[in-house]
Amino acid sequence: QRQKYLYLKSGIYSLPLNLFILTVALTHCVYGFNFYQNLKFAHKFESSKQDSANDRWIEQRLNNFDSANVHTWKQRYFANNQFSTPNGPVFLSIGGEGPAGSIWMTKGHWVTMAKQTGAMLFMIEHRFYGKSHPTPDASLESLSVLSSEQALADIANFITNITAEYKLAGRKWIVFGGSYSGSLAIWARYKYPHLISGAVSASAPLHPIVNFDGYQEVVQRSLQTLGSPKCVQNLANATTEITSLMKTTAGRKILTSEFNLCHALSDDVLDNQYFQESVAGSIQDVVQYNRDNMHFEGHGPAFNISYICHILDDVNLGSPLKRYAEINRLTLKESNVSCLDSSYQKFVSDTKATSWDKATGMRQWLYQTCTEFGWFQSSDSTHQPFKGFPLKFSIQQCQDIFGIPSEIIYKGVQRSTENYGGLSVAGLVTNVTLYNGLIDPWSDVSYMAGTDVGIVSLIVPNTAHCAIMYPASDKDSIYLKKARLDVENAVKEWLGM
Ligand SMILES: *[C@@H]1O[C@H](CO)[C@@H](O)[C@H](O)[C@H]1NC(C)=O
Ligand SMILES: *[C@@H]1O[C@H](CO)[C@@H](O)[C@H](O)[C@H]1NC(C)=O
Ligand SMILES: *[C@@H]1O[C@H](CO)[C@@H](O)[C@H](O)[C@H]1NC(C)=O
Ligand SMILES: *[C@@H]1O[C@H](CO)[C@@H](O)[C@H](O)[C@H]1NC(C)=O
Ligand SMILES: *[C@@H]1O[C@H](CO)[C@@H](O)[C@H](O)[C@H]1NC(C)=O
Repeated sequence: QRQKYLYLKSGIYSLPLNLFILTVALTHCVYGFNFYQNLKFAHKFESSKQDSANDRWIEQRLNNFDSANVHTWKQRYFANNQFSTPNGPVFLSIGGEGPAGSIWMTKGHWVTMAKQTGAMLFMIEHRFYGKSHPTPDASLESLSVLSSEQALADIANFITNITAEYKLAGRKWIVFGGSYSGSLAIWARYKYPHLISGAVSASAPLHPIVNFDGYQEVVQRSLQTLGSPKCVQNLANATTEITSLMKTTAGRKILTSEFNLCHALSDDVLDNQYFQESVAGSIQDVVQYNRDNMHFEGHGPAFNISYICHILDDVNLGSPLKRYAEINRLTLKESNVSCLDSSYQKFVSDTKATSWDKATGMRQWLYQTCTEFGWFQSSDSTHQPFKGFPLKFSIQQCQDIFGIPSEIIYKGVQRSTENYGGLSVAGLVTNVTLYNGLIDPWSDVSYMAGTDVGIVSLIVPNTAHCAIMYPASDKDSIYLKKARLDVENAVKEWLGM
C-alpha cells in the first residue's frame, strides 16, 4: 500500500532548479565529526550525567545475533506517561550517536504530537553511547557488538518487553529519530513492521557512501543562498592562501598565530590536514545548524550563515585569510577553549582511549563510520571552497585508530547498502515521514525526491539539519510550520484519528 502524499505538487516545498546531484544523494542529530563537534559531545555528556533521577534500565543481550552468547547488559531509557490515554499510541524516540537527554521527555515536536494523540513516551539510548555501556570498555574487541543492526534488535526487544511490562498490548508503536537515529527509525519500521506502525524521521542519511564529498557542495550552495556568492569566493581565497602559507616555515608561523593554535604548526602532512579540517568545521557547523531552535537543550550555535558571511565579506577586517581566522577565533571563544589543537597524533591518541570516561562518543561514531557508513566529509569536490582534507585523510584515521584498512570500509558500506536498501527503502516502507532541510549538507545523502513512494517526503527550503524536531518558535518559517502540521496529520491518519 503506497502513500498518496505528493508534497512537491503542493507548490510549498519547492526544489531549487540547480538541485544538487543525488548520488544514486540528541537527542539525536548526526554530527559530522570535527573538532568543534567533539566539544559538543563532551558538553552533552556532561549534561547527561545530571539526568540520573530519570534513568530507567532494561536488560539486553550483548549480542542479539548469537543465541549461545548469554551475556547481558543494562540499557538506559526514559519514560513519561503524563500525556498517555488508555488507547493512545506509544511513541519511542530512538537514541543516536550521543547520550539521550531527558529534556526531550517534555519538549520537542514529538511531545506536541503526544499531547494531540494521548501517547505514552519512551526514549531509548543507543548502545555504547551515554550511559548505555554493554561492555567494560570501548576496546576494539568490545566494539565488535556496536552496529546499527544490534541497535535495531535492541529496539525490537525493548518494544516487546516494555509492551508486556507496562501493559501496552494493543497500542500502536510509532518511532521517532533525527539524523542517524532518523535512519534507525526508518530501518526499524522496515525491519520490524509487526512491532512498529510508523516512523517520524528527520534529516536521515539513507545512502551509505565512503566519499561524502557532496557535503561541502551543499555547504557552498547554502552559503551562496543565505549568505552571498562573494562569501564563497572569499572563503576559497582564504583556504588557497592557507595551502600556500603551509609550505614555508614563515607561513606556518603566520597560521599558528592567526588561527590561535595551541602548538606551532608543523610541516607534517597529517597535522596540516587535521588543521584544515578543524578550521573548516567552524563554517560547516554554522551551516548545518543555521538558525535552528536547539538552544532549549542548553547549547547550540551562536552564529548563523548571514553573520559569518558578513565577516567573510568585510574588507575592513583585512585579507580573506584574516576574516576566516576571525570566524575561527569567535568559534573558539564561543566553545570556551583557549586555542585550537592541530596535532593529529594527539587526536589519534585521544580517540584511541578505551575507558568510558574518555570514549564519550567520538570514538564510537568514528568506528561506525569506518565499519558501516563511510560518510567521510572530504574536500575532494571541486565545487566547494575547502581544501586539504582529502578522502585519504579519513581513511588514514580508520587505519590509525582502529587498524581498519580501506577495503574493509568499502565492504562495510556495500553491506549496509545491501542490508537497508539505500535510498530505495523509500519505496519499501509505508507510514513513514521524512523531513529534510534544503540547506542541510546531510540532505545530500538523504531521500530527497517527493514522488509517490512510501515515505512522505517533506523538503523544507532554507532550513537546517533536524530543525523540525525542536520546539516550535514564532520565528520559524511558514514552510517549517506547515511541515510540522503535515507530520502531525500523517501520524493522526496512521492512528485513524
Ligand atoms: C523484561 O526485561 C526484564 C529485565 O530488564 C525482565 O526481568 C523481564 O522478565 C522482561 N519481561 C518480559 C515480559 O519479557
Ligand atoms: C586573495 O585575496 C587577496 C586580497 O584580497 C589577493 O591579493 C589574492 O590574490 C587572492 N588570492 C587568490 C588565490 O585568489
Ligand atoms: C545571526 O547571528 C548574529 C550573531 O550571533 C546575531 O546577532 C543575529 O541576530 C543572528 N541573526 C538571526 C536572523 O538570527
Ligand atoms: C569556560 O571554561 C572555564 C575553564 O574551564 C570555566 O571555568 C568556565 O566556567 C567556562 N565558562 C563557560 C561559559 O562554560
Ligand atoms: C498506516 O496508515 C494507514 C492510514 O494511512 C492506516 O490505515 C494503517 O493502519 C497504518 N498501518 C499501521 C501498521 O498502523
